[in-house]
Amino acid sequence: MGRIVTIIGTRPEIIKMAPVVKAIDELPHEHILVHSGQHYDLEMDRVFFRDMKLREPDVQLELKEQPPHLQVARTVMQAASVASKADLVVVHGDTNTTLAGALLGNKLGKPVAHVEAGIRSFDRTMPEEVNRIITDQVSRVLLTPTETARRNLENEDVRLGVHVVGNSIIDAIMQNSDIAAKSSKIIKRLKLGGSRFGVLTLHRAENVDAPDRLKRVLQAMEAVASRHALTVVFPIHPRTEKAAKQFGLSSLLKVPGLKVIPPTGYLDMLELERNASLVFTDSGGLQEEACFFHVPCVTLRENTERPETLDIGANVLAGTDPRRILEAADKQKDARREWPNPFGDGTTGRQIAQIVAKFFG
Ligand code: UD1
Ligand code: UDP
Repeated sequence: MGRIVTIIGTRPEIIKMAPVVKAIDELPHEHILVHSGQHYDLEMDRVFFRDMKLREPDVQLELKEQPPHLQVARTVMQAASVASKADLVVVHGDTNTTLAGALLGNKLGKPVAHVEAGIRSFDRTMPEEVNRIITDQVSRVLLTPTETARRNLENEDVRLGVHVVGNSIIDAIMQNSDIAAKSSKIIKRLKLGGSRFGVLTLHRAENVDAPDRLKRVLQAMEAVASRHALTVVFPIHPRTEKAAKQFGLSSLLKVPGLKVIPPTGYLDMLELERNASLVFTDSGGLQEEACFFHVPCVTLRENTERPETLDIGANVLAGTDPRRILEAADKQKDARREWPNPFGDGTTGRQIAQIVAKFFG
């Protein structure tokens, strides 16, 4: 029997790893779930364990309000003793928790498996891009969502241990969208029934830590709401809310057409996205989910590590210039919502568990 140590710590890791954790739990191996504590507010963390019906972490660490370098350093230190007993360390995605888990596994001489390996924005000013590249370089098992991601790894001379398995976000959607449709009351609660609305999320460092960019996006959303007669629902990330306050931009959160709400649970978010006319986002997960639901997406960035969504017309890049955002909204509102889903068939968790089982022989 082997011992697997899976390390998660942020909202997207909890959501996308829930199906993977459940599938690995079925294996005849010990499976220790570690939470770094990177996300800690109720609505950024606990709510997803409830919505995804994910078991509690075996080890809960604390990381509240640490700067990025200390997020990595403290996670390495705090997770060292549990990871030192691992036969395989599993990490997901591109956060500071991911990087810490991968470095820790590597320094301990433990094999690392990376879920959602190989995706690239080719923009090394993004902390996430650096986290992905380093994590992939030290991983032994690389679980890529698409062929494009596999090719990215090949171009970086990472060829061994690579498996194309789809993205577990599709498992998460498929396992939860019927439940969401039955149990979520968000459409009614926000009085959106029968109306056309957009969904906005924004939290990327490059957008919210720069007052000019944040201001431009918020102004653009007011203009989009007015031009398209849309209510734009904006579940606001705590980082963004803090930044708006700090930069004196809170008044832009109260403009007509913009409905700012606290971050939602997963089931509520699925319902919002499924019923939306347009999605505006700088989130990775929302680009994938909008694509799955055939809801046109406008990505508020200059690049994306999900180019598959651009190729099929599900998504366009608009940066943060209001004129470009308005043009992109015009284009996307007329998009033919017939594109195929490039991220797999919802069996990613099971495929990963089989690969892990084989790894142990
Ligand atoms: C992190 C990830 C990003 C991912 C995002 C998902 C890194 C480098 N970035 O960004 O890739 O897309 O999570 O949401 O790891 N905060 C709270 N409560 C919380 C969590 C955060 O108030 O529960 C505030 C704190 O002020 C914190 C700030 O948000 O300092 C930033 O949080 P952090 O986890 O460092 O980065 P994210 O922007 O969430
Ligand atoms: N999400 C959510 N409520 C919110 C915002 C996002 O449930 O208020 C979900 C979303 O459906 C997706 C995931 O969180 O599954 C994306 O996480 P986030 O945007 O924080 O990170 P990223 O995907 O950019 O790494």
